[in-house]
Amino acid sequence: MFETVGDYPVDPIMIGAEYFAQDPRSDKLNLTVGIYQDAHGETPVLQAVKRAERQLVETQKTKSYLALTGDAEYCAVLGRALIGAAHDATWVSAQTAGGAVALRVMADLLAQMPARPTVWMQRPTYGNYVPILSAAGARFADVPYYDPLRREITFEQMLDGLSAARPGDVFLMQGVCHNPTGADMTPEQIEALLDALEARGLVPWLDLAYLGFAGSFEEDCATARLIAERFEECILCITLSKSFGIYRDRAGALFVKTRSADRARVHRAVTAIVRSSASHAPDHGPSVVRTILQDPELTAMWLGELDAMRARVAQVRTALVQAEHDIFGTGELAYLGQQAGMFSLLPLTDAQEAALTREYGIHVVKGGRVNVARLGPGDIPWLVKAVHAVMAPVA
Ligand SMILES: Cc1ncc(COP(=O)(O)O)c(C=O)c1O
Repeated sequence: MFETVGDYPVDPIMIGAEYFAQDPRSDKLNLTVGIYQDAHGETPVLQAVKRAERQLVETQKTKSYLALTGDAEYCAVLGRALIGAAHDATWVSAQTAGGAVALRVMADLLAQMPARPTVWMQRPTYGNYVPILSAAGARFADVPYYDPLRREITFEQMLDGLSAARPGDVFLMQGVCHNPTGADMTPEQIEALLDALEARGLVPWLDLAYLGFAGSFEEDCATARLIAERFEECILCITLSKSFGIYRDRAGALFVKTRSADRARVHRAVTAIVRSSASHAPDHGPSVVRTILQDPELTAMWLGELDAMRARVAQVRTALVQAEHDIFGTGELAYLGQQAGMFSLLPLTDAQEAALTREYGIHVVKGGRVNVARLGPGDIPWLVKAVHAVMAPVA
């Protein structure tokens, strides 16, 4: 019977990890990973998380089911941390298994609406959006966001592309530390984009994955706050995987702002979609997040650890720019110092990218995404020299 199963595509990040594992060389470097790593290549459990987990072990009285939309207190605490007083009971909120499930629940909802709005995305963007939207059966299209060879955001082209959108369509954008480009819009560009969305009757869908990795957690919530205050209808998806380092514990949430007449229906729709898919969200990760956010001492400890992760990534970016300057006296990679978060795209053609792996043992995600957080001090000159070597014109 299973002979009829189709040939599913493999995620490029998984392909990258497989190629790395198969590379027989010992001097190889894996820049494909999608998580924070310290200078030793490790992703340690934060101390604030350990403390919260101990508290939970001592105090948790039951592990019975929660509501299908999860723990209302978790959603309220997280909603307040994200958008302050703008988050109130008028929002439809659901605890989800990380960000991917929040995205999927929304994708299902949009696909099931009779109007079937088109989801407009940035190109390039997070590699799992298309699989999620496709699996849900949602309609989607994209607009250019970033040109890797020119190393810049194609803002005007993005706005031009959106002129094809119809009122009621949705624009799926990222909060901070854009994955995979590392290139975030300026506050002025965000304002101009929101003006354009409003003028065209488009609904913003903001996906937040790296809060606290560009600026402070509070600063990184700015776009979510602007959108929440300004739009009558909007969608926020959040994952806490990165900001709390709890990737496998699956903490996330979906927040939907609706007109009051639609709220109860949207709530029932979200509940029904959750029931027929993930059913109940896992609670350990979300309980850890709630415990930390409700305890000022743990909050301060977590923010300190988040600041340290952000500072390390920023320091690696500065070191890359400095190393290039010291070795070559040029600024081909200077843009890396202006970007934020763990990811950036190398300005390489497909052939140069293949040569980087073949000749220098440096593995990147197809399309040139590198995780700068993975780079230790010894790796930095290795990467800089290799990128320059593959970019050099062949004599
Ligand atoms: C932009 C973006 N959104 C959502 C996610 C999904 O996060 P999670 O693993 O918590 O589902 C990621 C993870 O890499 C991401 O980069």
